[in-house]
Amino acid sequence: MKLLKSALLGGLALLPASAAMADELNLICSADVVICEKLVTEFEASHSDIDVNMVRLSSGEAFAKVRAEARNPQTDLWWGGTGDPHLQAGQDGLSAVYKSPMLDKLQDWARGQAEVSDFHTVGVYSGALGWGYNTEIFAEKGIKGPACWADLLDPALAGEIQIADPNSSGTAYTTLATLVQLMGEDEAFEFLKKMHANVSQYTKSGSAPVKAAARGETGLGIVFQHDAVSQAVAGFPIAVVAPCEGTGYEIGSMSMIEGAQNPEAAKVFYDWVLTAEVQNMMPEAGSFQIPSNASATPPKEAPDLKSIKLIDYDFAEYGSAERRKALLARWDKEIGSLPLQ
Ligand code: F6P
Repeated sequence: MKLLKSALLGGLALLPASAAMADELNLICSADVVICEKLVTEFEASHSDIDVNMVRLSSGEAFAKVRAEARNPQTDLWWGGTGDPHLQAGQDGLSAVYKSPMLDKLQDWARGQAEVSDFHTVGVYSGALGWGYNTEIFAEKGIKGPACWADLLDPALAGEIQIADPNSSGTAYTTLATLVQLMGEDEAFEFLKKMHANVSQYTKSGSAPVKAAARGETGLGIVFQHDAVSQAVAGFPIAVVAPCEGTGYEIGSMSMIEGAQNPEAAKVFYDWVLTAEVQNMMPEAGSFQIPSNASATPPKEAPDLKSIKLIDYDFAEYGSAERRKALLARWDKEIGSLPLQ
């Protein structure tokens, strides 16, 4: 395929640069690298005229890249990652308005994400927050598996918890916003200060903590439940927990970048990735989120959102530029600056 493309491009040498570049797509992918690579492979196989350059970045890092490139966008499309930074990108004018012909094929929550952002972003999957813990480590240490957020403050868990840094990770920002909505802002920061005594590391990527728990490097990772499920499905001794007090969830999102150099290629990928056929491939890559296409089949391993006590997560509020910036600044000052034990 590549050879054929090069031969064709050779023949196009006399065309204007913009025509020769029309078969490129610069994609940021903010979900797990395995599904990112699978999507690129499948897309290139079915669209031999478009070459995809993909970079995998956590949600907050992706937002920072898109913002840094605002005057000279190098990215065409941003797929995946939690919805909050996608909403902020829309508000900040970093993403473009696009009304996909696929919109009416989507679940209400996915279309709602488009509507709330004035069509700057759209929902691609969803999943609830929780944690995964290593049942062998807990059994060896004689520690009871935590069922509630409050249990994470148990001194028996000293050094056993990992969670990501909310500046880089959408998972960790969702955790911060969830605790604020569950407890109130001051109470949530008090909780995080106390939990810090049990935290061994704030990772860059959101799913890293449960991957570390699966390998026995830590006891517990606060992550989206589907990321804990994928470790359990891979055969690791990971128990998946939906916190008893209630929990937040993500609407994983997708945005076209304002001023993108390859908007037509971006639209082709955008519409393709919203189809049921493509979304049904996600479990093959160990991704167990709930798909946004209403005709796609939710993976049988996916945590059932109906059986989880979900909060009424306020996406507009916690995805707003002002709120997100303020919460991250407070986290840096009050939590990120604390020494690790
Ligand atoms: O690993 C998949 C996933 O949890 C997605 O569901 C989510 O949108 C993304 O990763 C968040 O990653 P991060 O926390 O690194 O931004």
